[in-house]
Amino acid sequence: MRMHRAWILGLLAAFTFPSDAMSDARPPRHSASGGLRVDNPYAGSTGYVNPEWSAKARAEPGGERISNIPTAIWIDRIAAIEGTPDSQSNGPMGVRDHLDAAVASGAGYIQFVIYNLPGRDCAALASNGELGPEDLRRYESEYIDPIARIMSAPKYRSLRIVNIIEIDSLPNLITNLNVPQCARMKSNGGYVEGVTYALKTLGALPNVYNYVDAGHHGWLGWDNNFGPAAELFAEVGRAAGMDNVHGFITNTANYSALEEPYFDADTRIGGRLIRESRWGDWNPYVDELSFAQAFRARLISLGFDANLGMLIDTSRNGWGGPERPTAPGMAESLDTFVDQSRIDRRIHVGNWCNQAGAGLGERPAASPAPGIDAYVWIKPPGESDGSSRLLPNDDGKGFDRMCDPSYGGNERNGNSRTGALADTPISGAWSSGQFRELMQNAHPPL
Ligand code: BGC
Repeated sequence: MRMHRAWILGLLAAFTFPSDAMSDARPPRHSASGGLRVDNPYAGSTGYVNPEWSAKARAEPGGERISNIPTAIWIDRIAAIEGTPDSQSNGPMGVRDHLDAAVASGAGYIQFVIYNLPGRDCAALASNGELGPEDLRRYESEYIDPIARIMSAPKYRSLRIVNIIEIDSLPNLITNLNVPQCARMKSNGGYVEGVTYALKTLGALPNVYNYVDAGHHGWLGWDNNFGPAAELFAEVGRAAGMDNVHGFITNTANYSALEEPYFDADTRIGGRLIRESRWGDWNPYVDELSFAQAFRARLISLGFDANLGMLIDTSRNGWGGPERPTAPGMAESLDTFVDQSRIDRRIHVGNWCNQAGAGLGERPAASPAPGIDAYVWIKPPGESDGSSRLLPNDDGKGFDRMCDPSYGGNERNGNSRTGALADTPISGAWSSGQFRELMQNAHPPL
């Protein structure tokens, strides 16, 4: 039984969410600076479309079907603040350029990913960053402070600025302390202090909405991870000020299904529970929506605002196409039933890199379910999770064998095959093949 560990994973056209009178009617929440935030920044608001991603999407056959969807802008290095014409994952537009373009397009909200912690991505190699494990002060003064200065300009006050805070970082401190770099980032305080600083500094702006990354069901779903993760988030929330955490996001850049329509963990097949199956692996959650809602309740019980909002990244968790089951399986044996019935077609729920067979998921939508502020597209479809073989680069990106289709896996994916696509470029760089497959396997279909 493996309950004791868990799996790391990890144009200016506008797009409007259907407005949601209910959530607009919920009381406004206070920011630390005394400003008023709306309860749900997505409700009734038009999202900014990143023109750099949009142009890449449009250049693909059929890409114009989705190229006007809002995706997040990843500030994945200091140079990205001003714009980085030479990097493979960002274009020449910097934070100020995007904010100006958002105002000019009449957008209501814009989404950034704050992603540059010291010792970043401690349990994997594909998204290692530029800052060394002891570079916390540089993170604060050369990364967070300049971003906050730019975002604070009065001309951006009418925009709702959503910041997704530091993917995978705090979850890695819960489950991956056996990895030396994660143990180091725990003992030197780099992640906790960095995230706290980011929340406080950005949260001081009255129109900023911070959502902290909370892994996904196949990482923090197990009881032994769920509780301790929530406690760690609450500790960080108290240090940063609870008002500076607007909500949490799950499934960022991951592939976990939003809903498994044909079973939950307690479904019985031949007298045995789904959670006893090889796929279920004793996890009480089998999908993201149930996990996000339950995690939200736990966080509120630990002191977060009663109106705490969750986001779910649905950019690549559609699992449509011909392989998608259309009915529950007929098998009487548990493992076979689960394999016939599950819409998440991964080999193992711990697989996270460029998953073959994946499709675009739900299009972004505001207030789609109780407790959920929005389904969002944070990982821009078409951008790789990591290279399938070692590719020298100037971006600080390593080669993680979880992105290599010939690798047999490690303890974080039950020593399973990786299910990754072949011939992919470094993380953040464009992968036509992946983009096309995601469109083909979209669910709902395009
Ligand atoms: C990469 C970033 C990139 C982001 C979005 C991450 O995995 O490390 O460089 O901007 O994905 O594609």
